[in-house]
Amino acid sequence: MFTLNRRTVCRWLSLSPLSSLFAPIFKLQAAMVPPFNRRILVAYASQCGSTEEIARAIFRDLQARGCPGDVSAAGKVKSVSGYDSILVGSAVHYYHWLPEAIDFVNRYRTELSRGPNAFFTVHFLNTGNDDDSKKKRLSYLDDVRAVVKPGAEVFFAGKLDTSKLGFFDRMGCRLMGMQDEDKRDWNAIHTWAGSVFVSQVQPGLSHPRNALAR
Ligand SMILES: Cc1cc2nc3c(=O)[nH]c(=O)nc-3n(C[C@H](O)[C@H](O)[C@H](O)COP(=O)(O)O)c2cc1C
Repeated sequence: MFTLNRRTVCRWLSLSPLSSLFAPIFKLQAAMVPPFNRRILVAYASQCGSTEEIARAIFRDLQARGCPGDVSAAGKVKSVSGYDSILVGSAVHYYHWLPEAIDFVNRYRTELSRGPNAFFTVHFLNTGNDDDSKKKRLSYLDDVRAVVKPGAEVFFAGKLDTSKLGFFDRMGCRLMGMQDEDKRDWNAIHTWAGSVFVSQVQPGLSHPRNALAR
């Protein structure tokens, strides 16, 4: 049945060729949705499961703060309409996000750019605090950031389990000097979920574009 509600009106406005003129209305609309009502989507790309576990932990933390929504593999998302904030995360393979995550960002670039969003990256190399490590891990997202500028961005150390990989990827990992280990820091993950709730989910407090957490 047709209903004229806040989301319908905003969808009409966003489809209009004059949509940029309505940007202040979108911002006002975001500010009017109470935090406990703001729908979130956490979309992830994971090959061996460690990024999926992180995505689900972040989603549970946001749900516990009262946000309804969904957590889903990026490749399975059919629409992002109806979400107030979108979080996208990916494992890094061969110095880039996984193709499903890159494809997700390309498909939903308009919606991601319009509203609050955050990116999280799960990787194994270049986890140090030195400038060289930071520069290298930041470069993993150069192609993604060229499409959408993230509202917040974080890097988490991941987990390598070569028993789940095929021959060529096992060889690739060996050549890159990686050995099986779970480096995930769950405290850092939960802390970030709390900070992203404030900056990208709960409106009106702070909205720091490009807040690089690590
Ligand atoms: C084939 C392969 C290539 C990888 N390439 C990189 C890389 O270039 N840089 C990096 O920091 N980590 C790399 N990693 C580590 C993964 O990003 C890390 O293990 C991550 O936690 C895997 O996530 P997943 O379990 O969700 O697939 C690679 C892992 C695999 C299996």
